[in-house]
Amino acid sequence: MIRLFNRKRTISNPLTVDIHSHLLPGLDDGVSSLDESLEILKNFEKFGYKKVVTTPHIMSDFYRNTPDGISEALRELQHFVKDKTEIIVEAAAEYYLDEGFIELLTEHADRILCIGNKYILFETSFMSEPVYLKEAIFYIQSHGYKPLMAHPERYQYLHNSWDLTMDLIDRGTLFQVNINSLAGYYTKPVQKMAIRLIKNSIVHFLGSDCHNMHHWDVTLKAFNTRGFRMATGLPLLNNSLA
Ligand SMILES: [Fe+2]
Repeated sequence: MIRLFNRKRTISNPLTVDIHSHLLPGLDDGVSSLDESLEILKNFEKFGYKKVVTTPHIMSDFYRNTPDGISEALRELQHFVKDKTEIIVEAAAEYYLDEGFIELLTEHADRILCIGNKYILFETSFMSEPVYLKEAIFYIQSHGYKPLMAHPERYQYLHNSWDLTMDLIDRGTLFQVNINSLAGYYTKPVQKMAIRLIKNSIVHFLGSDCHNMHHWDVTLKAFNTRGFRMATGLPLLNNSLA
């Protein structure tokens, strides 16, 4: 557990591994330069993290990232930060649940990028339940992986249906809540949903979903929230990936 003092209070962070961020420049809507990545990675290190698994978007319409392209960008970042930070940087992906993702799961499972050889991070539309949501979960599991839903607290269709939320859990889906949701960064309903998930002990990972330095500044504030303290009292899986 790292404890650092800022002007007003102690910042305590027991997390040592982050599993959701956008720190490979040029691949998505995340950082714009290697320098920005380095600055963020140094901050992760300062606040107790030992490893960051960064997860560029893969989305058929906007971000057609490939394993080769991600590996190349990762190698470039690793080379750039070498000797400047001790933090370990790895990469996987954040898959948008669209037809391209279903095709990947059904026809090219060998090309899937997963976190810690185990977890497939996926996101969905914010508004409505995707048609293939339950199929995607099934396909992920059929390949021996664990489905890890990115920021479930941000989806309107889950705000409207606790039954569906619990159904996803019953099917073996793991939930990754964004740390910034706990600071009210998105909306109040998102913050409220995050707290509800925590109170029901159905949060398995916390993630920064860091896209830039502004996001990191919010994360620092979120470390001081009651929601963060409650969440880190759960048996989170982050540190199992150290
Ligand atoms: Fe993300």
